[in-house]
Amino acid sequence: MTDVTKLKSWQALESHARQKKVLTQLFASDPARFRKLSFALPGLLVDFSKNLVTEETISLLVKLAEEANLEKARDAMFRGDKINTTEGRAVLHTALRADPEKPLTLDGQNVAEDVESVLQRMASFTSEVRDGVWRGYNGKEITDIVNIGIGGSSLGPRLVTEALAGYYPLRLQAHFVANVEASDLALKLKGLSPETTLFIVASKTFTTAETMQNANIARSWIVNHYKDEQAIARHFVAASTNLEAVKKFGIAPANMFPFWDWVGGRYSVWSSIGLTVMLMVGEENFMEFLAGARDMDEHFRSAPLKQNIPALMGLIGLWYRNFMQLPAYAVIPYHACLGRLPAFLQQLDMESNGKSVTRDGEPVTAPTGPIIFGEPGTDAQHSFFQWLHQGTDVVPVDFIAAVKTRFGNKDQQTMLLANFLAQTEALMAGRENKAEPYRNFAGNRPSTTILMDELDPRTLGMLIALYEHRVFTQGVIWGIDSFDQWGVELGKVLAKALEAEIKSGKPSAHDGSTVGLLEYIAAHNR
Ligand code: F6P
Repeated sequence: MTDVTKLKSWQALESHARQKKVLTQLFASDPARFRKLSFALPGLLVDFSKNLVTEETISLLVKLAEEANLEKARDAMFRGDKINTTEGRAVLHTALRADPEKPLTLDGQNVAEDVESVLQRMASFTSEVRDGVWRGYNGKEITDIVNIGIGGSSLGPRLVTEALAGYYPLRLQAHFVANVEASDLALKLKGLSPETTLFIVASKTFTTAETMQNANIARSWIVNHYKDEQAIARHFVAASTNLEAVKKFGIAPANMFPFWDWVGGRYSVWSSIGLTVMLMVGEENFMEFLAGARDMDEHFRSAPLKQNIPALMGLIGLWYRNFMQLPAYAVIPYHACLGRLPAFLQQLDMESNGKSVTRDGEPVTAPTGPIIFGEPGTDAQHSFFQWLHQGTDVVPVDFIAAVKTRFGNKDQQTMLLANFLAQTEALMAGRENKAEPYRNFAGNRPSTTILMDELDPRTLGMLIALYEHRVFTQGVIWGIDSFDQWGVELGKVLAKALEAEIKSGKPSAHDGSTVGLLEYIAAHNR
């Protein structure tokens, strides 16, 4: 595999990075800068103009993408090539939201048909629950859905469910249990009745330790209430790829909504892992959510790189990471319903691109995925924005807002948008104050602005797919496998051994710190 840092365009970018760029000057010298560097799709505008880039930067970055064969790699993903090489799998989350009329064959199987048939099953289950046809074991209507799952089996469905809070039916409420820390499940169950609660055990593998632990406790909660194992059939369904494990748990195949190994956990909200979303917002809105992602897929597949929003977003991120040596990246959604977006993006980006070896197993030659953090604005303005404005590190920020809202009154929304714009302007323009240096804002701090017309299912689908393809773009250029996650394995293995040691109170050979901590736990756990 070619060392990316040896590519001509990479070297040109390195020397180009030595030219200082001042945002206010770039705007002053080019009145058309906003027009040239902002891109719109129906329902969504992405403004890159407040980034530390010139037209030359963009051309060089596009050249880099071409030299790194981004378009070829993109086509291979959409085609179903086994681009997740370390796991020998295709990467086809895009097939989950593709046009059902267009067949897509993978290993002799028409994937489009499989997707469609699961969507239909999800839709009919959704109507049954929402119409009160599907009832609990003693005939009561379901009022609460509890998604038990972790990582991609929680973050995606939780983000989307919460983001679409304006679309809920009156009767149903959704809850998400991910953490094995006991309060996560216990406090949620406290407010619920076993007779009206439906659990969705969401796990691709159906072996994830935390999920299975929580699911087993929830199972006992139901069985103990009814004193009857048969009750499980009315209170548990599963979203998984592992039929045998689902059956072993006691969930009948008819109550399992399958998906496939070519759907990565952090890319799975579009599959049956999104069942909680569909139950909460209904089939039609879920299909709109998929359609939004499809819009973005089509754009990513067909737009020239110079106007390709996810590709440009990825390239600009890479510009900061590799050529301006900025290791962090903030995402600030100005919408309380998008509160889980930063957490979702942490998994999407950091689990995908937090890698140190290339697909060939060679050490990477340039830094890969950045640290991602964020919180909703305006809240974040009253916590870490001080650091964004006056700290010693420069952090590129994505600001995300919707022009209209389904909630509250106009004045709240006007104030929100004013704050949203003010922050991007303040970061960029700064304000000089020589007399009182503590009031000085250096400025020239970059940001991307994403404006949705409204936070609706379709736009949300576009937004999430935008970030997925941004991550993909960077992974291709770094030459890494963005679709495996071997970095989570070691901790899982060690935890298994330690669990037994904590139970028995007998530590085996560990480092001094771990032994000391095990002893402390044993002494204080009586
Ligand atoms: O531990 C990481 C991980 O494998 C994620 O990639 C995944 O989203 C999560 O665990 C949950 O996995 P599963 O859906 O198999 O329970």
